[in-house]
Amino acid sequence: MLSVDKLCVGYGEADVLHDVTLRVGEGEIVAVLGANGAGKTTLLAALSGLIPARAGEAMFDGRSLVGAAAERIVGWGLSHVPQGRRIFPGLSVMENLVVARTAATDRAEGGFAAAVAEAEELFPRLNERRDQLGWSLSGGEQQMLAVARALVARPKMILLDEPSLGLAPMIVETMFSTILEIRRREKVGMLVVEQNAEQALRVADRVYVMELGRIVLEGPADEVARDPAIERAYLGA
Ligand SMILES: Nc1ncnc2c1ncn2[C@@H]1O[C@H](COP(=O)(O)OP(=O)(O)OP(=O)(O)O)[C@@H](O)[C@H]1O
Ligand SMILES: [Mg+2]
Repeated sequence: MLSVDKLCVGYGEADVLHDVTLRVGEGEIVAVLGANGAGKTTLLAALSGLIPARAGEAMFDGRSLVGAAAERIVGWGLSHVPQGRRIFPGLSVMENLVVARTAATDRAEGGFAAAVAEAEELFPRLNERRDQLGWSLSGGEQQMLAVARALVARPKMILLDEPSLGLAPMIVETMFSTILEIRRREKVGMLVVEQNAEQALRVADRVYVMELGRIVLEGPADEVARDPAIERAYLGA
């Protein structure tokens, strides 16, 4: 469904991503692991149309993402949950969800109300906090809202940027379990970038390891988890 070929992305003089090639199949959960500054956020920002690619190709569901506007890409069914959540602090939980409404939301059975109901079933806390302003939510609740917002657009695939960032271990555990539940219910695929290798390896089908903007290793999650170099670098073994 998502196929990235030799993608090159940079800022100003600096090249950040070098010939990145990866695939995510329909309903597949794929993780990209990498340290600070590896280029994970840059990859997701390029795929969602926020920064331009310098070379290479990225196809989603038969369409080229290269040069496409961010809004169109969401319309094609590719939603992005950015690093740091980026929810609207001055809007309530419900208003944040209203902003995420798209033509696809209205086309789906039950429209916006059904989309919100489904998101609140996954994250009951959001239902209790419907009228609370974004800035006053806890980090975990903001992350739930960021994922719920992506779901309201009725995506075929979600790009998730460090869902574990800054959250307590138990909340992280719950978040990743919900990621599996979303795939089970909605059959959406996910490309998850993470520094938290342990959790990412727990939920992913396949994994890519990125170092300094290059993919240096790829494979099924269970194989990558057993790789001695990965254990040393990412699992604290
Ligand atoms: N807007 C920008 N302008 C210039 N350089 C940038 C910009 N954003 C990121 N970079 C650089 O690109 C490289 C990759 O950054 P990126 O944020 O993609 O890494 P990351 O893997 O997401 O890191 P982290 O795990 O800390 O989020 C870094 O060297 C960073 O300094
Ligand atoms: Mg990042």
